[in-house]
Amino acid sequence: MFVTIFTNTLYITKVTNSLRFLMTSVYKILITVLMLAVMTSCKKPESPGDDNNRPKNLEEYYMVNEGLKDYFAADYFDMGMAIAPEAVDDPDDMELMIRHCSSLTAENVMKWSTLQPTEGTFNFSYADKIVNFAIANAMKVRGHTLCWHQQVPSWIFEDNGQAATKELVLERLRTHIQMVVTHFKGKVYAWDVVNEAIDDGSGIYKPTTWYNICGDEYIIEAFKAAREADPDAKLFYNDYSATQPTKSEKIFDLLEKLKNQDLVDGLGMEGHWNIDAPASETITAALNKYGTLGIEIHITEMDVSVYPNTSDPQVDYTTSIESSLAAAYSRFFNLFRSNRDYISSVTFWGITDAHSWLNNWPIPGRTNYPLLFNSDHEPKKVYFWIIDF
Ligand code: GLA
Repeated sequence: MFVTIFTNTLYITKVTNSLRFLMTSVYKILITVLMLAVMTSCKKPESPGDDNNRPKNLEEYYMVNEGLKDYFAADYFDMGMAIAPEAVDDPDDMELMIRHCSSLTAENVMKWSTLQPTEGTFNFSYADKIVNFAIANAMKVRGHTLCWHQQVPSWIFEDNGQAATKELVLERLRTHIQMVVTHFKGKVYAWDVVNEAIDDGSGIYKPTTWYNICGDEYIIEAFKAAREADPDAKLFYNDYSATQPTKSEKIFDLLEKLKNQDLVDGLGMEGHWNIDAPASETITAALNKYGTLGIEIHITEMDVSVYPNTSDPQVDYTTSIESSLAAAYSRFFNLFRSNRDYISSVTFWGITDAHSWLNNWPIPGRTNYPLLFNSDHEPKKVYFWIIDF
């Protein structure tokens, strides 16, 4: 009897212990699953991650072949650079373009002063060199730019020593656009048709020679001529400070007017920004506003100055400057990626820091460090930050 009770008690104790052990294990598993779920949902999506196998430093960069286009073009936007024709003869520049670009822009040689320096004399040789290189390497070409008030010859606005009439100026504009767009038809997929026509001050349009002679009619005429010459090309209006609230109102109105006549497909936001500005909210507000027009956005001339104020004195490229630049670019690229529904192309204004126009502007001789690659053609810290997502 005693033995039976003892055996039963022992058996019950064993079962209870097993149950307790089972419950504790289930409990532990549940807690672990719960903690993992919380940790996963709290992980910052943009924090430097080990969840991709992209290079994190120079050594790893040279161990792979992929570049910007491989990380961005399929799921986000084309990646491009603005270049001079000499770049397609420079092995180091060529290597960077081929590795990183799905799109190219001529930095200067598609502007009027190069293409038609004197009336009726067209010189396409420099631009052709860039276009042929792009095509040979399966890159798209953005055309820049058909009508601007700079790098434009004065003959357009003159007639036998007198000011040319509006009719003559518009006729010359139409002829230029017809010739240029036809020459590159099927090769240039998007054109910055009119560049920087909106005023930064209280006016609507910049009081340029174009505007002073033709009023705003020249803008409409330029777009009409481009549309007629190549109906398949995407037509863009391009400008700086396009996120600035007052200026963006005016740009919006112009785009709306063009869009109502089916003359425009997109806005080129230049992207000459700096390590402090524009603020993320400002960029987002502008993108949402332009987005209501149902047009594409291209970031056409991206470079990030390390000088928040244009008059800041020369600085060296210290670790702290390098980190500020990387943080700024990461912020901009996070915004670009989360707005990929609007943004379909991002072009850097240059290949390496060595040849950036910002080395001389607005202070001649001041060195800037605004691009992803240094003068030795090596990726800077900023490169590793923006591809780490
Ligand atoms: C403007 C123009 C570009 C280029 C830059 C400075 O943004 O649109 O073509 O000239 O200035 O290099």
